[in-house]
Amino acid sequence: VIDIRKLYAETGAFTYDPGFTSTASCESALTYIDGDAGILLHRGYPIDQLAEKSSFMEVAYLLINGELPTGDELDKFSNTITRHTMLHEQLATFYRGFRRDAHPMAIMCGVVGALSAFYHDSTDIADPLQRMIAIHRLIAKMPTIAAMAYKYSVGQPFVYPNNDLSYTANFLRMTFSVPAEEYVVDPIIVDAMDKIFILHADHEQNASTSTVRLAGSSGANPFACIAAGIACLWGPAHGGANEAALNMLREIGTVEKIPEYIARAKNKDDPFRLMGFGHRVYKNFDPRAKVMQKTAADVLNKLGVTDPIFDVARELEQIALKDDYFIEKKLYPNVDFYSGVILSAIGFPTSMFTVLFALARTVGWVAQWNEMISDPAQKIGRPRQLYVGPTQRDYLPVGDR
Ligand code: ACO
Repeated sequence: VIDIRKLYAETGAFTYDPGFTSTASCESALTYIDGDAGILLHRGYPIDQLAEKSSFMEVAYLLINGELPTGDELDKFSNTITRHTMLHEQLATFYRGFRRDAHPMAIMCGVVGALSAFYHDSTDIADPLQRMIAIHRLIAKMPTIAAMAYKYSVGQPFVYPNNDLSYTANFLRMTFSVPAEEYVVDPIIVDAMDKIFILHADHEQNASTSTVRLAGSSGANPFACIAAGIACLWGPAHGGANEAALNMLREIGTVEKIPEYIARAKNKDDPFRLMGFGHRVYKNFDPRAKVMQKTAADVLNKLGVTDPIFDVARELEQIALKDDYFIEKKLYPNVDFYSGVILSAIGFPTSMFTVLFALARTVGWVAQWNEMISDPAQKIGRPRQLYVGPTQRDYLPVGDR
C-alpha cells in the first residue's frame, strides 16, 4: 500500500485516478466486497444469508452498530424507529408546492434536504447522541417521505403511518391504501420487499455513498448529506439503472428481439448499453442479483403473475452469459437487473424504483456518515486535479480581444 500522504509530502506527486477506480477514500468496517469472486459481506455476514434469514431492521442495526442485535436490542431499535415515522405536518404543505407530474426523486431530494429546517437539534453532529437521533429519524421517515411522494404523484391523499405494522408493511400500506380501501398487507409481498431493502442497504464506497461522505466531511448536517446522496443515486448509471433496466426489458418485449439488443450493446458506435448489466467492482456475478432473480421467480409464482418481461430477462441473461463480448468484459447482471420485475409485479410504477433504492440505501448512508464523523482521522474531502488549462496570460480589455 502506497502512503499517498507521505509520497506527496516528499515529492509533491499525487495520483491521477479518474472515477477513483483504484483509490481508497477511507477506512471502513461496514461492507466487504470481493468483486472477482462475487462476495459481499456486511460486518462479515454474507449477503445471501442476511437476505434469506434476517430482516431489514436487523440489517440496519447491524450496519449501524457493528453486531447483530439480541432480541431485546432489536425490539428497542424497531420501537425507536417506529416512534419517528411521522413527518412534521407542515411538510405536507411543502409537497403541495411541487408540480403534480414531478418525478418522486425530485420531491425526495427536496423534502429530505428540508428536514434540517424542521429538526434543528439533529444538526449538532459533534454530539454522538444527536447523531444517533438523526440516524433514527432518517431511517424512520424515509418510508413516509417515499410513500407521500408516490401519493402526491397519483393525486391521492397522504396516508399516515400505522405504527402497529412492521417497517416494511407500514411502507406498503402508506403507499397503496386509499380512503375507500385499506391495503391488505400480504406477507409474501412484505417478505419480498424486505429482501429488496436488505439487498440495497449498503455497498461500500459507491458514487452516492461517497457523495454522502464528501458532503459530510465538511460538517454539513445529516439531512443535507443524505439529500446529496439521493441526488447522486438518481443517475441512470447508478440507482436510476433499475428504472432504465425495466424500461429496456419492456422495450425488448419478446424473446425474439433479444439478439437485436445484444448486437446494439456490442456495437461501439451505438451508445446503447444493456441496463442492469456490468458493475465497477463486480467482475463476476453480483451476489445480490442471484438473490434478486430467485425472489423475482418466487414472487411471480406465489402471486400467480405471469409477466413476459421476466422471461425476456432470463433469456437475455442466458444469451449474454454465453456471448464473447460479455465474457471478455466480465459483464454480469447486477442488482438492478431483476429488481424492476419484482417491483412492477408488486404494483410500483417505474418512477418509484429509484425512490425505493434510496429508502433502503439510507441505512448504509447514515451508517457510513456516522462512521466517518466518529473517525479521528476524518478530514474534509478535497480531491486534487491535473490542471490542463492555459498557462498564465494577461487580461485584455473587451475591446482589444
Ligand atoms: N452493456 C454493454 N457494454 C458495457 C456495459 C453494458 N451494460 N457496461 C460496460 N460495458 C462495456 C463498456 O462499453 C466498456 O467497453 P470498452 O472497454 O470497449 O470501452 C467496458 O464494458 C467497461 O465499461 P466501463 O463503462 O468503463 O465500466 P465502468 O466500471 O466505468 O462502468 C457501469 C460500470 C457504469 C455499471 C457500466 O457497466 C454500465 O453503464 N452499466 C449499465 C448501467 C447499470 O446497470 N448500472 C447499475 C450499476 S449497479 C448500481 O448502481 C446498483
